[in-house]
Amino acid sequence: MMECTWKAVLLLVFASLGIQYTAIKSLRMAYKAPCMGMGVQNQCLQRDIKNNASRLLCEGTNNLHASLQQHNRKHIIILSMTRSGSSFLGQFFNQNPDIFYLYEPLYHVQRTFANSSSRVQVDRRAFVGAYRDLLQNLYDCDFYFLENYIWPAPKDHETSVFFRRGASNALCSPPLCDQLQKIEEHVCSRKCPPLNFTAVSKSCRTYKHMAIKTVRIPEVNDLKTLAEDPRLNLKIIHLVRDPRGILASRISTFVDLYRSWKIWNSSGRRPYSLDLTQITTMCTDLASSVQTGFMRPSWLKGKYMLVRYEDIANDPVKKAKEMYDFVGLEWRKDVQRWIEQNTNGSVTPTANFKFSTSRNSAETSENWRLHLRLDIVRKLQDLCNGTFSLLGYKMVDSVATLKNSSTSLVEPRTFLAFT
Ligand SMILES: *[C@@H]1O[C@H](CO)[C@@H](O)[C@H](O)[C@H]1NC(C)=O
Ligand SMILES: *[C@@H]1O[C@H](CO)[C@@H](O)[C@H](O)[C@H]1NC(C)=O
Ligand SMILES: *[C@@H]1O[C@H](CO)[C@@H](O)[C@H](O)[C@H]1NC(C)=O
Ligand SMILES: *[C@@H]1O[C@H](CO)[C@@H](O)[C@H](O)[C@H]1NC(C)=O
Ligand SMILES: *[C@@H]1O[C@H](CO)[C@@H](O)[C@H](O)[C@H]1NC(C)=O
Ligand SMILES: *[C@@H]1O[C@H](CO)[C@@H](O)[C@H](O)[C@H]1NC(C)=O
Ligand SMILES: *[C@@H]1O[C@H](CO)[C@@H](O)[C@H](O)[C@H]1NC(C)=O
Repeated sequence: MMECTWKAVLLLVFASLGIQYTAIKSLRMAYKAPCMGMGVQNQCLQRDIKNNASRLLCEGTNNLHASLQQHNRKHIIILSMTRSGSSFLGQFFNQNPDIFYLYEPLYHVQRTFANSSSRVQVDRRAFVGAYRDLLQNLYDCDFYFLENYIWPAPKDHETSVFFRRGASNALCSPPLCDQLQKIEEHVCSRKCPPLNFTAVSKSCRTYKHMAIKTVRIPEVNDLKTLAEDPRLNLKIIHLVRDPRGILASRISTFVDLYRSWKIWNSSGRRPYSLDLTQITTMCTDLASSVQTGFMRPSWLKGKYMLVRYEDIANDPVKKAKEMYDFVGLEWRKDVQRWIEQNTNGSVTPTANFKFSTSRNSAETSENWRLHLRLDIVRKLQDLCNGTFSLLGYKMVDSVATLKNSSTSLVEPRTFLAFT
């Protein structure tokens, strides 16, 4: 049984990874694999996975992955970075009633490790491993794995602290919630009962496809293992944005994290405390992802599409259709209607939350040019120089060019999906 062996290997790797930081409570809980629930044979609840891993895994094999193998089911990942427009792009899939869409489920993993009271330093590799395992389980509609990362711990598989639940239409719709007149984030969190993960898993299986948006996976290479899993048939939509636009947006959104940049921008003096690593990490990850895509490794064949935020802002319907084509989904009129309503400045937007996806998109994609000083722009161009040419973003060297709104800094480029 191929599949059984595969799953055993994966979870054994996870178990040994876990041993490295036993101090982390959530991971100790993860040892007690909650692989129950899916069917008759799942008697393995609360057993010690370390000693009985293979047996335990094989018991459940008949029922595990039932979702993954559903005919023609698409598993989509929207891979991006904060303030790159991924909430907006995510809506192209969230608004499709055939798709079970999840908004940033990896948040809970990050939160768990970041909040750990132990002094164990959780490195990037460990993060990525945990993310990957969670994604694998989620695509299989197994939500119990996620429970280990939620605080306070769910009782009877129920929680009322699921991160941004209202940003996922499927989590605010029957059978998980009574039909709302209109799904809005704050209405969902106020009116829907606590989220029941058993019910979520069940509901998830009734959808034709699944899409997950995340800004927490650093780069495309980190998805290699998932992309290589033939049952997943993963479709990666890699969303990028001009790093200057990202920085401007982060300065006004993440006030604490980007305080030094804000001081520089408003005072004209670069603070000694300025930490460049946020930016250099962003640019290295970006460049490395894009280069991986350009090299067209066999494991990405048919699975990778690069999209620039600025191109989406220019013509969202056209880009959304291209993404549907790439994934292999039929275009939908209701998705088109949503996009038209929410990108049209003269119409009242349908949703209004903090990371608002409602805006006159074409106007805002280069708006950063009015909000960044030239010396900051120059510094960024210095730090990220390779990234700019890869993606077709023009560098500027004078205030006149920077502020001249009749010239775009986005070169026309066509990035063909790797098919
Ligand atoms: C492993 O499985 C065996 C056989 O079912 C059982 O006797 C044993 O108690 C299990 N070990 C643990 C640690 O659960
Ligand atoms: C973080 O840890 C503290 C202390 O252990 C705990 O009180 C708090 O609830 C935790 N917060 C989250 C979001 O995990
Ligand atoms: C959660 O949902 C399942 C399946 O729909 C149901 O059997 C269970 O009773 C629910 N749990 C609670 C606490 O309501
Ligand atoms: C925006 O809305 C106005 C008024 O409803 C309409 O006339 C116009 O065609 C819309 N534009 C787009 C791009 O949908
Ligand atoms: C940077 O400073 C300028 C001038 O004070 C201001 O207009 C702009 O909004 C600031 N940008 C950000 C991102 O805060
Ligand atoms: C980026 O800058 C570095 C250091 O100034 C330089 O060595 C490198 O060639 C530049 N790369 C590009 C693509 O311009
Ligand atoms: C802005 O750019 C346009 C097109 O390149 C150019 O014709 C115009 O002179 C520029 N305006 C200023 C103020 O530099």
